[in-house]
Amino acid sequence: MFSLAVLVILGLSTASQSLEEHLTGHENGTIDANGVCQCSVFLPDPTFPVDRMEKVEMTSNSLSILVEQELLKIQESMTKISIFEKRMHNLTIRIEKMESSGITYTELDFELLKLEIREMEMLITQLKGSFSGSNVIVDQLYAEIKNMSLTITSLETLDKNNVLAIRREILSLKKKLQDCEEYKNHTNPGPTQPPVIYGSCNHGLILDISQPFVAQLNWRGFEYKSGAWGKDPEPEPPKKELYWQAPLNTDNRYMEYYRYYLSYDNFLLYKYPSQNRVVYGQGSGMVVFKNHLYYNCHSSRDICKLNLDSNNVVLRKTIPNAVYENRFSYTTPWQDIDIAVDESGLWVIYATEQSTGNIVISKLNETSLEVQRTWTTKQYKPSVSNAFIVCGVLYATRTVNTRQEEIFYAYDTNTEQESKISLSFNKMMESIYGVNYNPKDHKLYVYNDGYLVNYDLSFNPNPEATKGV
Ligand SMILES: *[C@@H]1O[C@H](CO)[C@@H](O)[C@H](O)[C@H]1NC(C)=O
Ligand SMILES: *[C@@H]1O[C@H](CO)[C@@H](O)[C@H](O)[C@H]1NC(C)=O
Ligand SMILES: *[C@@H]1O[C@H](CO)[C@@H](O)[C@H](O)[C@H]1NC(C)=O
Ligand SMILES: *[C@@H]1O[C@H](CO)[C@@H](O)[C@H](O)[C@H]1NC(C)=O
Ligand SMILES: *[C@@H]1O[C@H](CO)[C@@H](O)[C@H](O)[C@H]1NC(C)=O
Repeated sequence: MFSLAVLVILGLSTASQSLEEHLTGHENGTIDANGVCQCSVFLPDPTFPVDRMEKVEMTSNSLSILVEQELLKIQESMTKISIFEKRMHNLTIRIEKMESSGITYTELDFELLKLEIREMEMLITQLKGSFSGSNVIVDQLYAEIKNMSLTITSLETLDKNNVLAIRREILSLKKKLQDCEEYKNHTNPGPTQPPVIYGSCNHGLILDISQPFVAQLNWRGFEYKSGAWGKDPEPEPPKKELYWQAPLNTDNRYMEYYRYYLSYDNFLLYKYPSQNRVVYGQGSGMVVFKNHLYYNCHSSRDICKLNLDSNNVVLRKTIPNAVYENRFSYTTPWQDIDIAVDESGLWVIYATEQSTGNIVISKLNETSLEVQRTWTTKQYKPSVSNAFIVCGVLYATRTVNTRQEEIFYAYDTNTEQESKISLSFNKMMESIYGVNYNPKDHKLYVYNDGYLVNYDLSFNPNPEATKGV
């Protein structure tokens, strides 16, 4: 019986050795020079020896049962022995007592005891004989058998785990390959695509918008639900970077304070802010461009241009016919006049009575703030949640639900063509206010119910790609 168990253990260890070869043979997924995902699995055996493994498992199972049965028998005998031992001890004590006490006993008393003792001696000898060894040997055997049974059990679980491990490895390799392909499809539509050149317009419409990246809560706090934020695409030297934020007062109407930071780290840590007061801006349509803050001067159809260093309004200009005071606002209130920046400079998005509330776009001269040219779209302004301009193309967004927004409309001022598109994106909170595009990093800076969130935009690499439907 014991030699059989050893054979089984040897068989198991052989199987686990070949399993280890399987395990160490795999490799990870890679992308080669042509952008093709490669993932190879090296198997030393053409197939996993399932039948061999099953046979070994069955044999070891039945053997385990046999060993357990034998162990039970031995345990029974051991219990018997210990009972007899106790009885013998009792008898010895009884005899000693009889001998030490002065009372005299008849010969018969002793003969009875002697009979009992002989009877037990005989039984013990029988028991010991059935193990053909001493008590020490029985104990040793017991321990060895117990150990063997444990070893078999642990070998069994080890091998089962190895089989599972191989399955898991293959699954994870498949997943890696899929991820690799998805990643490649997502970021690099093909090996022939040119790299992204920020600030250039050598591309088609927006193709994709990333998940939101939450930078932080605005500095004034959670209750400041509307406003705007962004990064100056062309900060004035010696400034290298300029991140700004302008939470409106809690009436969602007046801009009174704004802040800017000269590095992203300071911005994230609310460190070394430059804070100024303005009386007043209106709505969330403001933007910072070349060290100036442009905003709708309150209760007017005027645009104010404010120098960030002096905090002085250096220019104020009327947008002819623009409606204001919450007339044809975006879906959120006080969003009448929205200023935008793209690769070619400053724009203003608004509506007029003549346009019957449809979106009107004007290109502005950034020096004089004069309107250079105007386009009227067919999109009703109060039904869009916001808008921004990329390469002379206006994109409008609308609310899908409390968690999703959609870029659904585009108007190209270069071709005067409009198109329906559908690009959904997630948001953190319900309402979006200021939406500013930065042509130098292709990011959208969105003020989302007090949270400062941004998104990466990617474009169709083909400038001639069919523009929408
Ligand atoms: C697979 O990748 C992991 C980490 O990504 C690494 O630890 C492991 O060595 C790699 N395996 C092979 C076979 O290249
Ligand atoms: C051993 O002897 C005591 C009295 O001396 C008795 O109570 C006990 O039951 C005996 N045990 C056995 C196992 O015979
Ligand atoms: C049980 O077996 C293992 C491996 O064969 C050995 O290292 C260990 O000493 C054994 N234990 C006993 C109690 O015999
Ligand atoms: C990646 O793109 C290729 C070719 O366009 C396509 O066959 C494959 O199914 C795509 N893979 C995934 C995971 O989307
Ligand atoms: C913008 O306005 C300035 C000042 O009035 C003028 O010198 C410049 O030519 C204008 N630029 C364009 C492109 O019209």
